Amino acid sequence: MTSPAAAHVRSLLASYPDFPQPGIMFRDLNPVFANAAAFRSIVDELVDGHHGRFDAVAGIEARGFLLAAAVGYAADVAVLAVRKGGKLPGTVLTEEYDLEYGSARLELEVGQLPAGSRVLVLDDVLATGGTVAATSRLIERAGYVLAGVGVVVELTDLAGRSRLGDASVHAVVSI
Ligand code: PRP
Repeated sequence: MTSPAAAHVRSLLASYPDFPQPGIMFRDLNPVFANAAAFRSIVDELVDGHHGRFDAVAGIEARGFLLAAAVGYAADVAVLAVRKGGKLPGTVLTEEYDLEYGSARLELEVGQLPAGSRVLVLDDVLATGGTVAATSRLIERAGYVLAGVGVVVELTDLAGRSRLGDASVHAVVSI
C-alpha cells in the first residue's frame, strides 16, 4: 500500500543525471519539501513509522537537518546536528566515510544527551549507506543507543541497508 507521503514523494521527486558528476543520478527532494502537504506527510510518517521509544533525533547535514527539526518538534524530543567535518567546536567525535562520489567526514559534539539516550537518525536519502553508517558509529561512540533510521528515499540498487546491521530502517519510498 502506498502511504500519502510516498505518493507525494513519487510525484514530486526530481532526478538529475550526471550531477554532481558523470554517472551519478542526483535525487532532489527540494521540490518535495517545498510542498507543504508533502512535507507534513513525510514528517508524520517519520514520527509514526518508527516503532519504539526515541529520546532524540539526529539530523545529518544538510537536508537531514530539515527533517530532524520538524520531527523533533512533532515528537517533542531533543535534536542533534551531525555535521560535516570542521564545523563544530569543542570536543567532537569524528568518523570518515565513503560517499557514492568521494569521501567525507562527519562529526558530533559529545555530552549533549544523557548516556543511553535512544536516538533516531534522519536523512533525506539512503544511497550506499556510508553516511548513515558513520552517523550510527558516532551515536554509539557518544554513549547513545541507535533507536532506528528514517529516510525519505532509499536507493535499493546501492544496498545501503545492508551496511546498517540489524538497525530498524524506515524509508518512505524505496526506488
Ligand atoms: C547525500 C544525502 C545523504 C548521503 C547519502 O548527501 O543527503 O546524506 O548523500 O549517501 P550515502 O548513503 O551513499 O552515504 P551529500 O553527502 O551529498 O551532502 P549534502 O547533504 O551536503 O548535499
